Amino acid sequence: MNKPVPNIIDGRHVAALIREEVRQDVHDWVNSGNRAPKLQVVLVGGNQASKVYVGAKTRACEEVGILSETLMLPDTTSEKILKEHIAKYNDDPTIDGILVQLPLPAHMTPLAVIESIDHRKDVDGFHPMNVGRLTIGQPCYRSCTPAGIMELLKYYSLSAKSKDVVVVGASNIVGSPAAIMLSRENDEGKATTTLCHKYTRDLTRHTIGADILIVAAGVPGLITGQMVKEGAVVIDVGMNRVADPSVDRGYRLVGDCDYDSVAEKASWITPVPGGVGPMTVAMLMKNTLLAAKKAVYP
Ligand code: GUN
Repeated sequence: MNKPVPNIIDGRHVAALIREEVRQDVHDWVNSGNRAPKLQVVLVGGNQASKVYVGAKTRACEEVGILSETLMLPDTTSEKILKEHIAKYNDDPTIDGILVQLPLPAHMTPLAVIESIDHRKDVDGFHPMNVGRLTIGQPCYRSCTPAGIMELLKYYSLSAKSKDVVVVGASNIVGSPAAIMLSRENDEGKATTTLCHKYTRDLTRHTIGADILIVAAGVPGLITGQMVKEGAVVIDVGMNRVADPSVDRGYRLVGDCDYDSVAEKASWITPVPGGVGPMTVAMLMKNTLLAAKKAVYP
């Protein structure tokens, strides 16, 4: 018997459509006499993955007509100096969005740094003001990765309404805001949401009931086919580097799902790479344009 083949959720395709929409909107915005939107990026230290992500973000800015500048600071930078740079960007009327790439060096307190960003320029949606407003359904910047997941579900008409959604991984950046978005009473929400994490006793007991399973744990191969319900929609947010001497760069990217066995059960699945990853960058472009237009905080 042939193996069942799931439908592929193509994040590269949907992200390209969103970037094109933003490019058009930026073009119109500038043609109407406004200055081009500007994103200020801050990268502290030499984390290789962070450099790759920042490179992708600044390339996307260039593509859609958003100006960007990247401040690179050494690992040894004090939190005080970093906050001084942020304070300057907060006060600069030519800067619309500020993004401090995470993770920060261990000697810093990430929340304190995030809180020092003016929430009206927090295009990452990490500031407590934005997270709080998300929680109570008020206009806010939304964390780009979960916002990208919502766009993917919408694009493929995979409604979450009244579905059992299970989110694995409770990070502030992905899992927790994804669970909030899916629980709200609005067009993209109305799901019954379970948020699992590393203290969850019997993960399979939860995942096996999921109509929509979102996995953002950062553990390669955590979810296998036996843990997934037949016909489930599976969104794999994992971006794990595993050593692979057979490729030039020495590693390959894998998700949190054991793709082959999960694909046998899923009706829809995101590949890694090419699933959620490109959506994060596209949503950042969208948020930066909203910031320039002062559409969220007039
Ligand atoms: N590190 C991992 N993901 C992200 C993200 O979306 N934004 C920032 N600033 N840092 C990250």
